[in-house]
Amino acid sequence: MTSNNTQTKLEKIVALSKRRGFIYPGSEIYGGLAGTWDYGPLGVELKNNIKREFWKSMVYNRQDVVGLDAAILMNPKVWEASGHVAAFTDPLVECKICNERFRADHKEELTEHETSHKGKKVDWTEPKKFNLLVEAKLGVVEDAKQKVYLRGEITQGVHVNFKNVLSSTRQQIPFGIAQIGKAFRNEITPGNFTFRSREFEQMELQYYVKPEEAEKLYKYWKEERMKWYMSLGMTKEKLRFRQHEENERAHYAKDAWDIEYDSPFGWKEFEGIHNRGDWDLSQHQKHSGQDLTYFDQQEDKKYLPYIIETSGGVDRATLFFLIDAYAEDGDRVVLKLNPKLAPYKAAVFPLLANKPDLVAKAKEVYENLKSTIQNPISWDDRGNIGKRYLSQDEIGTPVCITIDFQTLQDDTVTIRDRDTTKQNRVKIKDVSSQIEEKLN
Ligand code: GAP
Repeated sequence: MTSNNTQTKLEKIVALSKRRGFIYPGSEIYGGLAGTWDYGPLGVELKNNIKREFWKSMVYNRQDVVGLDAAILMNPKVWEASGHVAAFTDPLVECKICNERFRADHKEELTEHETSHKGKKVDWTEPKKFNLLVEAKLGVVEDAKQKVYLRGEITQGVHVNFKNVLSSTRQQIPFGIAQIGKAFRNEITPGNFTFRSREFEQMELQYYVKPEEAEKLYKYWKEERMKWYMSLGMTKEKLRFRQHEENERAHYAKDAWDIEYDSPFGWKEFEGIHNRGDWDLSQHQKHSGQDLTYFDQQEDKKYLPYIIETSGGVDRATLFFLIDAYAEDGDRVVLKLNPKLAPYKAAVFPLLANKPDLVAKAKEVYENLKSTIQNPISWDDRGNIGKRYLSQDEIGTPVCITIDFQTLQDDTVTIRDRDTTKQNRVKIKDVSSQIEEKLN
C-alpha cells in the first residue's frame, strides 16, 4: 500500500469510530483537549472486552498471578524513589520560527514540520529534557495544597504493595501481580488518533522472580504476550519484536523489547516487555526505609527479586485491533473482529417492523439470547435487511439473526455469518450454542 492509501485507512477508522460510537474526541463541544479521547457505547464494549481477555489470560487462567487495583494518586515520594521525577523525560526541541515544540528523537515529525515552512530554513533550539509527569494539587487549604503526580505508569502502585500481597496471599516466587488502569503523561506531541494520548490505560503484569531465573522468564513472557495478541486474531505478519538500543531504554530497564505493530503510520510500539532488575524494589526499600526483601524458604536466603514486566496499552490495543480488523469487501465495510472482542455478539431482526407477530417473536428471541449469552446483543428493525446487515458488518457483529414468517410456523431462524455472508436456517433452540461456539 502507498502511504496515501494507508493514511486514508486511518482517516476512515477515525471517521467510523466517531460515526458509529467507538471513539470521540475528548471535550469536543468545548473545542476538545489535545491528547484526550472518549469511548462511546461501542468503544467501551470493545475496550472492556480487551481488558476482560487480558484479565482472563493473566489472572483467571493462572495460579501464579493475582490482581490489584492501586490508587492513581500516591505519595509523591514514590515518584522520587522510582526515578520518574529525575529521569522520566523526553528530549524537547522548539522551532525557532513558530515556537512549536517537538520530540527531538521523532525525526520524521521534525522533517514534516520543516517542510511546512515552505523553503524557509528552520533552526531548532538545543534539545532539553522535558519531564512527562502530570502534576496536580491536593488538599483543602489553598496555600498548603500538596503537589502530587498523576501516575506516569501504573507500575509503582504494584511495587509499593509487594509486601502486602505477599503477606495476604499464598504466593511464592515466581509470582506476578496484574493490574489495569489509567496513566497520564504530558506527551510533547500527542497524535495518530489515540496512539499517543495524554490520558490512557495500561494493562500490566509485574512478575517477581529469582535474579538467576530472570532471563529465562523474560523470554517466556515475551512469547506469551505475542501469543496472546495472535490468539485474539491479530495478523501474525503485522507483529514483530524489536529490542531497544541501550541509549533508548527507560531508566529502570536492564533489557527492553517492544512488540510492534505494522500500523498505517509505520511499525509502532504496541507493548513493552522489560527486565526491570531489582530497580523498583531496591529504590523503594532505600527511600521508604522498609525491608522489601523476599525470604526464599527453599533456598533459606533473603534477596530482592528481579521484576519482569509486560506493559501493554489498552487504547493502543483498541486502535490496533480496529485497524487490523478493518476490511473493505465490495460495497461493504467489515470489522473482522474476533467475536470475543466484538461489541455485540449478535444482532436480532424482525423481517418486517410493522408485523406485530414477527416483532413479538423476534423480541422473545432477543431477550432469551441476552440472558443466555450474558453479553450485548443488538436489536434492529429499521430499513431493509440488506442495510441492517451492512450496518452490523461495519461494527463487527459476528452473526445476524432474522425472524421471518417461516419462524412463526417452524421455530427456525436465519443466521447470517459476518465473514462469509452465508446464511443458514437453524432451530431457535440451537442459536445460542452456535454463538457460544464462536466465543470459545
Ligand atoms: N510500566 C512500563 C511502561 O509504562 P511504556 O513502554 O512507557 O512502559 C507501556 O508504556 C505501554 O503503554 C506502551 O507500550 C503503550 O502501549 C502504552 N502507552 C505508553 N504511552 C502511551 C501514550 N502516550 N498513549 C497511549 N498509550 C501509551
